[in-house]
Amino acid sequence: TASFPRFTREEVGRHHNEANRVWVTYGNEVFDVTDFLELHPGGKSKILLAAGGALEPFWALYAMHKQDHVQEILQEYKIGEL
Ligand code: HEM
Repeated sequence: TASFPRFTREEVGRHHNEANRVWVTYGNEVFDVTDFLELHPGGKSKILLAAGGALEPFWALYAMHKQDHVQEILQEYKIGEL
């Protein structure tokens, strides 16, 4: 299995806009979803609400993300682990 770099939550938090790139976490995994912003069916602005932090509180509200195909998309953007 691939080995990913480790990041702290503080470092993830610095990536909270497009200028600094948009990172999010899910579990202990870190994703750079900057290149997905324009592709998101729910719009760019929704992802920016979670930028620099955890997806879980948002995906608890928008349960359509709890599908295998959404997880597969997210995994394409993985850059590291906490
Ligand atoms: C829909 C992916 C973050 C809100 C979707 C869909 C995908 C997706 C694939 C379509 C699902 C389907 O219809 O089967 C992602 C990924 C995210 C992300 C990879 C990680 C950054 C968010 C966040 C929010 C959000 C943080 C809310 C704050 C929505 C909404 C829809 C949606 C409202 C429904 C759009 C519609 O059908 O009109 N997302 N999403 N998403 N997402 Fe996200």
